[in-house]
Amino acid sequence: MNGNSITIIIGGGIAAYKSLELIRLFKKAGARVRAVLTRAGAEFVTPLSVSALTGEPVFEDLFNLDDEAKMGHIQLSRAADLIIVAPATADLMAKMANGLANDLATTLLLATDTPVLIAPAMNVRMWEHIATKRNLATLRADGIMTVGPDEGDMACGEFGFGRMAEPDAIFEAAKAALGVPGPLDGKYIVVTSGPTHEPIDPVRYIANRSSGRQGAAIAEALARRGAQVSYITGPVSIPAPKGVDVIKVETAAQMFDAVNNSLPADVTIFAAAVADWRVDGAGASKIKKQKGELPTFTFAENPDILASISALPKKQRPKLVIGFAAETDHVLENARAKKKRKNCDWLLANDVSGDVMGGTNNQITLISDSGEESWPMMSKNDVANRLAEKIMKALTTP
Ligand code: CTP
Repeated sequence: MNGNSITIIIGGGIAAYKSLELIRLFKKAGARVRAVLTRAGAEFVTPLSVSALTGEPVFEDLFNLDDEAKMGHIQLSRAADLIIVAPATADLMAKMANGLANDLATTLLLATDTPVLIAPAMNVRMWEHIATKRNLATLRADGIMTVGPDEGDMACGEFGFGRMAEPDAIFEAAKAALGVPGPLDGKYIVVTSGPTHEPIDPVRYIANRSSGRQGAAIAEALARRGAQVSYITGPVSIPAPKGVDVIKVETAAQMFDAVNNSLPADVTIFAAAVADWRVDGAGASKIKKQKGELPTFTFAENPDILASISALPKKQRPKLVIGFAAETDHVLENARAKKKRKNCDWLLANDVSGDVMGGTNNQITLISDSGEESWPMMSKNDVANRLAEKIMKALTTP
């Protein structure tokens, strides 16, 4: 990022401390960073720590002659290649959406013609409030870019969407916004995710507890690093990852077709919890209850998508075929056997006997031909980032 100049506006939220790490990432990458601290932001991080990291004076006050002498606010609004608002509080978003300009940060945002990226951070109820949704829609329509928020435990003790995106995710989003080529530029990756629904009749189906969170996080982590990603997902209720091509399917058979239609690819990652069986002969009419009679179903086996892609001839086979092993018992033993059976390059084993399925954390053991490595329990976003880094290395080492 040598030669890039970033202005970061730090709003007043508990996530402000993460903005210090963000500044560090930009500086390490060679960018120039100027920081604006709102009055509320200064309650959470000190001007001194911000200034020590940027190596520049910190701008705080619209009416401060010293600040204006360092750089006029209009100039400051134009001096960057990208303005980042992190954390973007509900209040800052509301002001931006309505064009208010009653302090240095908002005046700068109204006076600028520079691209703006916001990293929202707030309590889950505030994030889900209709007013915030309206403001977000306005900001997006105005061309403001967003990254996050993530789902997880919040400082206020609640759980849900509203946690600010992690600094590395904001950093990658900023690079994409600046057009800095990502390490996975030119790579095409297919990711399957979520459950499949296998119909019993037109109104009933068999499903599983997969939320699709891990697959979505992986797809987004790869896209942020510049990969072109096809994200083939079964029915889920989580938002689609940003920057990917979304292909929605319902059944395992449709997922199988969608994967095959997406090839050739450099990498394929099978994070979906695919149903092993479908109801044979599921019909077009609803099964009616018959007094004293219980329905019986016969099952047919679904295609094993991962195994079929692993078995492709070398010329058509992706360079890296990655599967998951969701296990409840004898996790490693079963996963090792699964890797052999499915013949994939890497297998990410996870224990789903607890609340991993549907939850936000995951504990992975990566099994490859060169050995096994066990990762600590971490968020699904962190698993995604770690996997993306490993894929980058694998694709760049001969
Ligand atoms: N998978 C697939 N197609 C299927 C079944 C599974 O592509 N029909 C992939 C999953 O996406 C995952 C891996 O295979 O990457 C292992 O899935 P898992 O459900 O753990 O294994 P199963 O093959 O279903 O084996 P078992 O039910 O015996 O554990």
